[in-house]
Amino acid sequence: MEDTIKIGLCGLGTVGSGVFELLQENADLIRNRIGRNIIVSRVATLDRYDNLGLDLSKTQVSDSVDDILRDPEINIVVELIGGKTIAKKIVLESLQKGKSAVTANKALLAEYTEEIFQAAYRSKGNLGFEASVAGGIPIVRSIKQGFSGDRIDKFMGIVNGTANYILSAMSSEGVDFDQALNDAQKKGYAEADPTFDIEGIDAAHKVIILMALSFNGLFDFSQLYVEGITGIESIDIAIAEESGYAIKLLGCAARTENGYEGKVCPALVDKKNMLAAVTGAFNAVSIWGNFVGETLSYGAGAGSHPTASAVVSDIIETARLMIAGMDNPVPPLNTGIDALTRQDILPMSETESEYYLRIASDNAETSVDDILKILGDAAINLKSMEQKSGSGDLSLQKYLILFTEKSNEEQMQSAIQKLNTLSVVAKPVKMIRVEH
Ligand SMILES: NC(=O)c1ccc[n+]([C@@H]2O[C@H](COP(=O)([O-])OP(=O)(O)OC[C@H]3O[C@@H](n4cnc5c(N)ncnc54)[C@H](OP(=O)(O)O)[C@@H]3O)[C@@H](O)[C@H]2O)c1
Repeated sequence: MEDTIKIGLCGLGTVGSGVFELLQENADLIRNRIGRNIIVSRVATLDRYDNLGLDLSKTQVSDSVDDILRDPEINIVVELIGGKTIAKKIVLESLQKGKSAVTANKALLAEYTEEIFQAAYRSKGNLGFEASVAGGIPIVRSIKQGFSGDRIDKFMGIVNGTANYILSAMSSEGVDFDQALNDAQKKGYAEADPTFDIEGIDAAHKVIILMALSFNGLFDFSQLYVEGITGIESIDIAIAEESGYAIKLLGCAARTENGYEGKVCPALVDKKNMLAAVTGAFNAVSIWGNFVGETLSYGAGAGSHPTASAVVSDIIETARLMIAGMDNPVPPLNTGIDALTRQDILPMSETESEYYLRIASDNAETSVDDILKILGDAAINLKSMEQKSGSGDLSLQKYLILFTEKSNEEQMQSAIQKLNTLSVVAKPVKMIRVEH
């Protein structure tokens, strides 16, 4: 094998330019670690790159990814373009040609899970996707290697920095959702079109990848329950705080007796739980293994440098495999191909949670009996019930705040429908799940 490992970099945007920078700045350190040089021999980019401050003098630059895919000297193709069209072609074609592919593209992996991973299992090349979940936190490698002896029973994580930034600002600065989003956009933490982040779709992509790694199966993105943070109001953040909770957008999944649960939704998290202390654009993931117990990984979930760190870790892992001989590359997921099966995600109606309910009632005292009857009929037991008044413009509004025991989701949804028909219930009942 030659002294130099050549990679092709597709896309020189936020993450791509960070990868180029890291490989250049840490070139000596990487050479010492693996005993080879890693160079970016080709870059495909549509943009001007002369203002990026990168030394591309030894790199062939073109606007076509085909120049990279066709180059027989390039064994590692790094896809950092995003989207699902050209990115899919790059990853699949690389793997089909026996090259290794490295990608940060969670949307591609989550929505084409079967196609991409089947291709990866069949390929002589490696598939690296560390950067696709939680940016700089090495969570993919933790599951694949660190917990490879454990049965993973559950994970729960904050995997979208934008949503966490917005919820943190609503809590610390007392601003409403629109103001917090506006501020996040001004500071560069949210895109001009923030839909993927605030509607939970980006987090859902990451949950599907984590479920595949944790539960040794291929899961269908369309089966995952996804609820974003646009319905979270300042009043709920304030009441949650007073009650000892923070509201977070969580990605959760668990192995249960009935099957696999998986969801993305805003949830109240007890302040004693370390996830409640994860603020700003940071990410954190808790994983429960049957021998290791509960673990927590924390760090920057996005950004040019943290994400580049994860991408380069995949490049180095692949380089090490190449040096050792790629005849039998390590499976891309946590299981051999024979044990890899398609798994269903349980419908939400069959899952259980604890719930926070905020019931706006002009006359809360007289309506309690009716409310309790509806909940009792649905076998929903209460942990606590408290009457509160709104503040500011809402100071005349009375709220009944209920925390429930673990209850069935379908029963809860049907109880909420009934509560909303009561004449004393002034506005639709606000329900947020409570996760532990
Ligand atoms: N940014 C993060 O913090 C982060 C974190 C984790 C994962 N990721 C993932 O990393 C990937 C890249 O994200 P990014 O933030 O770096 O995106 P980005 O800044 O938009 O970079 C993508 C680059 O690819 C270029 N491009 C588009 N079509 C191309 C083509 N046919 N050939 C060559 N280049 C092409 C784009 O050029 P134009 O601008 O001209 O279209 C752009 O410069 C995405 O899958 C994203 O989900 C990003």
